[in-house]
Amino acid sequence: MKYLLRTLLLSAGFIALSSAAETAENMLVEMTMIQNNTALMQAAVEDGRERGQLCFRCHGEDGNSKRDYIPNLASQNALYLFTQFEHFADGTRKDYVMSKLAGHLSKDDRIAIAVYFSQSEVNKRPQPVDANVKGEQLYRSMCFACHGNEGHGNQQYPRIAGQPYEYLESTLLKFLHKDPERKNSPMSAVIQNLNEKQLKEVAAYVAHME
Ligand code: HEC
Ligand code: HEC
Repeated sequence: MKYLLRTLLLSAGFIALSSAAETAENMLVEMTMIQNNTALMQAAVEDGRERGQLCFRCHGEDGNSKRDYIPNLASQNALYLFTQFEHFADGTRKDYVMSKLAGHLSKDDRIAIAVYFSQSEVNKRPQPVDANVKGEQLYRSMCFACHGNEGHGNQQYPRIAGQPYEYLESTLLKFLHKDPERKNSPMSAVIQNLNEKQLKEVAAYVAHME
């Protein structure tokens, strides 16, 4: 199968980078370089669309998920997507399908797929609950510092705005109860300050953010 990104990365100048060890720091450098180079970016998106085919059934071709328990990958920051594969593969994070899939993706696949989905827009979806002002207050005091005023995250923190409410609620409950499916997450410490009612209020607010 053709692999544009690899070919370009291997061409003069990018060799050292494409063979660098997968430390978080190296990956940040590599991702940033791809994102700042139009040709690399196009190659990654093209490869990602091809490699990502088996993800579309659940996460949608444009990264807007097909079911409310499945997260959107659209507009998610590429480095976060990349590191989650690592977490599924090494057992820090567990999900029946994802844990199996993660081990089968090469480093190049993971980069291309992460870049591909990060380029899509999140569509507004119907949410089963309304947002209220308490949820907004909780967000403004406890979440914005890491996830940003708009919930869009950055290179270090995931985007959470517009995720399906069901996924947000169940994920936050996993953090609250220190569920082994998402162990050792910095979110567990943060969320201990909320009770379940507040957790649902903040989840509803985040679901409606754009
Ligand atoms: C059968 C459905 C299914 C398929 C196919 C699937 N996923 Fe997933 N994916 C899920 C579910 C469900 C979750 C949420 C797991 C959890 O709750 O931790 C998830 C989570 C993720 C996450 C974490 C996102 C986040 O916001 O933390 C990433 C990244 C991801 N999938 C990428 C992929 C990629 C790339 C593929 C294709 C190679 C793929 N998935 C195929 C169902 C699927
Ligand atoms: C100290 C920084 C920090 C604060 C404050 C913080 N978060 Fe997070 N959040 C993170 C990090 C880092 C992750 C990625 C966790 C992982 O990989 O397990 C994350 C992940 C999440 C996720 C899962 C995203 C996904 O796609 O699966 C949700 C939902 C979330 N945070 C919601 C919140 C809410 C709501 C608040 C406020 C109550 C909050 N966070 C406050 C750092 C923070």
